Amino acid sequence: MNILVTGGAGYIGSHTCVALLEAGHTVIVADNLINSKAETLERVMQITGKDIIFYQIDVTQAAAVETLFAKHSLDGVIHFAGLKAVGESVDKPLAYYYNNIVSTMVLAQACQKYNVPRFVFSSSATVYGENKVPFVETMKLLPTTNPYGETKAISERILTDVVNANPQWSVALLRYFNPVGAHESGLIGEAPTGIPNNLMPYIAQVAKGKLDKLRIFGNDYPTVDGTGVRDYIHVMDLAEGHVVALARMSAGVSIYNLGTGQGTSVLELVESFVAANGIEIPYEIVARRPGDIAKCYADVTKAKKELNWSTTRNIMDMCRDAWGFEKNYKD
Ligand code: NAD
Ligand code: UD1
Repeated sequence: MNILVTGGAGYIGSHTCVALLEAGHTVIVADNLINSKAETLERVMQITGKDIIFYQIDVTQAAAVETLFAKHSLDGVIHFAGLKAVGESVDKPLAYYYNNIVSTMVLAQACQKYNVPRFVFSSSATVYGENKVPFVETMKLLPTTNPYGETKAISERILTDVVNANPQWSVALLRYFNPVGAHESGLIGEAPTGIPNNLMPYIAQVAKGKLDKLRIFGNDYPTVDGTGVRDYIHVMDLAEGHVVALARMSAGVSIYNLGTGQGTSVLELVESFVAANGIEIPYEIVARRPGDIAKCYADVTKAKKELNWSTTRNIMDMCRDAWGFEKNYKD
């Protein structure tokens, strides 16, 4: 299939390009490189030995998007492009609402106009808010505490309404849990700018000596050891989930949790990183981070049953591959 990958130079997008190319698809990337580098796409081509067609465009720009759609006979779109920093979204709500929602609308409109049958959307477990774990796709979504989370809930709603009006269209809303790790080659991975907000890149930078120690946000949660519990998923498992979803999706909206179904605490993740890589991670316990929930993990029954997809990589693989990328990465 000819697949347009928006945000394909980014963290999850680049790994998904690898999985798509390896499955034999033709990949067209649209990315404005606001949070990524073109070099990542060269590395994807190096890993796979296959070419990518690249457009450096902003996917909120309808004219640029339509030019691309007119040129390629697309079979599907995977829409990763978006802004994703939760804290920043509180400071710059308009930038987040504009970028994340307008891009979804522009792409949906182009799919309608050019009869592109499949649309896969990057959603997030954040839409479950303070529901009780494990999170199931049928749960009523609860308000999220920040504009970023709202952009995901609103985009889901817009796409659902478009399908209601055009029931022959196929949309998959994929709710990611916590993607971590990197491609096994160490050539591509997660390279946040500035000090990382998320746990695994922070640990990896402590391991490298770039940061002095990890600050663990709270050890008084009602969890196994008091630290926050999350469902970490290897980014290559997540990438492969997209390839499977594309192949199996049918008319209408389908929603899938993409996670492992297993919760891991902050301390357990630190221990696994030390065991996998033989590098000590100094840490201190500090106050809770505002907006954090105690536990977040998926019920993965639906993806297993309907997509016949489940993860194959474990926490040790995630820690090994996160370090495999970070140790060689140069800013
Ligand atoms: P990323 O920032 O690494 O990748 C996003 C890519 O989109 C970047 O390459 C950026 O340059 C590009 N981009 C942003 N706005 C654009 C625009 N208007 N036009 C063209 N390109 C644009 O982020 P990621 O971690 O790979 O996340 C991909 C998607 O998955 C995002 O939608 C994100 O919200 C969602 N998601 C991510 C996580 C996570 O933990 N990483 C979890 C849940 C959902
Ligand atoms: C973050 C986002 C969430 C997004 C998710 C996807 C925030 C507030 N939430 O969630 O919207 O959907 O990523 O990956 O950013 N931790 C520390 N020290 C650190 C960093 C994190 O103790 O320096 C803890 C957190 O308190 C949490 C766990 O590690 O318990 C995971 O944190 P993080 O990697 O930021 O992900 P989420 O909070 O799940």
